[in-house]
Amino acid sequence: MCGIVGYIGPREAEEFLVAGLRRLEYRGYDSAGVATISPEGALTVAKTRGRIERLAAQLEETPTPGQVGIGHTRWATHGQATDENAHPHLGGSGTLALVHNGVIENFQSLKRRLEGDGYQFHSETDTEVIAHLIDSQLAGQSAVDDMADAHYQPLVEAVQTALAQLQGTYGLVVLFHQWPEVLIAARSGSPLIVGVGSGEHFIASDASPLAGYTDKIVYLADHELAVVTADNLRVVHRDEGHVTHDIHVLDFESGDVDLGDYDHYMLKEIFEQPESLTNAMRGRFDFDAATAKFGGLTLSPQQLRSVQRLLLTACGTSWHAALVGEYQLESLARLPVEVEYASELRYRNPPIQSDTLLFAITQSGETADTLAAMREVKRKGHPVLAINNVVGSTIAHEADGGIYLRAGPEIGVASTKAFTSQCTVLAMLGLYFGRLHHLSFSAGMRIIAELQELPDKVRRALQTNDEVRRIARKYADCDNFLYLGRQANFPTALEGALKLKEISYIHAEGYPAAEMKHGPIALVDRHTPSVFLMPQGHVYDKVMANLQEIKARNGPVIAVICEGDMEASKLADDVIEVPAVEEFLQPIITSIPLQLLAYHIAVARGCDIDRPRNLAKSVTVE
Ligand code: AGP
Repeated sequence: MCGIVGYIGPREAEEFLVAGLRRLEYRGYDSAGVATISPEGALTVAKTRGRIERLAAQLEETPTPGQVGIGHTRWATHGQATDENAHPHLGGSGTLALVHNGVIENFQSLKRRLEGDGYQFHSETDTEVIAHLIDSQLAGQSAVDDMADAHYQPLVEAVQTALAQLQGTYGLVVLFHQWPEVLIAARSGSPLIVGVGSGEHFIASDASPLAGYTDKIVYLADHELAVVTADNLRVVHRDEGHVTHDIHVLDFESGDVDLGDYDHYMLKEIFEQPESLTNAMRGRFDFDAATAKFGGLTLSPQQLRSVQRLLLTACGTSWHAALVGEYQLESLARLPVEVEYASELRYRNPPIQSDTLLFAITQSGETADTLAAMREVKRKGHPVLAINNVVGSTIAHEADGGIYLRAGPEIGVASTKAFTSQCTVLAMLGLYFGRLHHLSFSAGMRIIAELQELPDKVRRALQTNDEVRRIARKYADCDNFLYLGRQANFPTALEGALKLKEISYIHAEGYPAAEMKHGPIALVDRHTPSVFLMPQGHVYDKVMANLQEIKARNGPVIAVICEGDMEASKLADDVIEVPAVEEFLQPIITSIPLQLLAYHIAVARGCDIDRPRNLAKSVTVE
């Protein structure tokens, strides 16, 4: 879950390395480091615990010169967030430097063997094992007269021999002290791409560092290794040898990844939702057939018509979107839907009926548990499709097809616009399957009309920002929150609680409102606010009754209600009014004030909004 970068070409490498790590910092921010080789041949390593800014300040004082280098920002898996455990790690006595994203499961046994061979370890990391392992394969290579003529094949073999001994996942880049004209990058399980420039190459964990440098990228697949010089890129597969590589065009600019006038990426992405929802729907309605259309649904209408059961799997916020999808798909398509935590599904081995279609829902497309659950269901012969936001991600690559969210880069660790886009795409899937089954033409057109009004209604919900900020400051000192909703607003309550937990570190729980009486109501007191999601709908009166149960125990109530709802306004301590929408779209509208509430409470508590403690944007380890 770390971020790694590499550069080779005519520029000073440090400039791209530091800028790239800043863009990748959402992948982990426990420590950071770079290594370069100067024109004079000096291998320089600079690394420190903490944020990129701390490293940048260090480099201001002691730059790392050179036109080749590697860099890393860390999410600690093995060993504390210390200077010693920061990457890059050196192999042997400094024959190479290496940065790594992933987890090596058999590192202890390899470490014991290498210590037996006389290697000294300077860190607690699994990564240092790889550096020494490659060093142990390098012995004798220095005698190679012209490594370039040999296309660096001896180095490739040394790296491949070392990698063959690893169990686990990696995306890594190796910088060789004796051969500064080449970098070797390799992937198995962790994402890695190469940016192709003219007379230069860039390596990164994802595309965000490349915006503004090049728009030509090569996605490395598992078990592929890239031999990268300033002028050349060669891709070698572990088993198949040399492979041709496709160059893709980056689908976003640096403006998409820059903060602009916002204080935080999370706030920027909250306010981007009218556009991201418009993008999610653009060109995806078939007005002649009153249905939705998706270019990436690679199964034929006949195959999709024969689907009798949907299985949705995901993690975190995406799992909450899947729960919303369950309500939407069952109500619009009348198809039975099961929602599974991916981390459970990958090992639970449930009986899956033959006419089941799996959707893996994931913003990043790299979440290890979701990838593994999808692979497991695919291995059993079921069709698997992905709902994903990152073009070319591993899950998008391995699924049989899918739907891109088109929400643009989501950099804030707390997911916001991806959630509402996921719920919108799931509603459109409900329309698609509904029209394949029982939904009439006019019903289809009504649903399309409701969906098309969504961006404007979200824009109106965003206008509650000032009111939400006032409410947030009122409750910012509370240490426990309850989020309550019914039907499709129950998963939204879960999502609201997760947002608050993630960025303000306040304990919060989401519940179906009627569940309170069965225990959680014991938590209610003057200092524990309950956030009620109660837009108009077929369970409104039931939720109102639940609200009165809380008021009867002096629990403060913040209610998200439809504009003009006077009844709830009289009862709740604070209300946030949002535009009315059809019930299957309510989670998209009611989640907006919940995102803003979490954001403003976290700001009031002085929390690091975009880099919340202990978290990372994409969980690529199990
Ligand atoms: C949400 O704010 C978190 N960042 C996290 O729960 C996230 O949703 C989860 O890790 C799944 O990520 P994915 O959608 O990229 O697969």
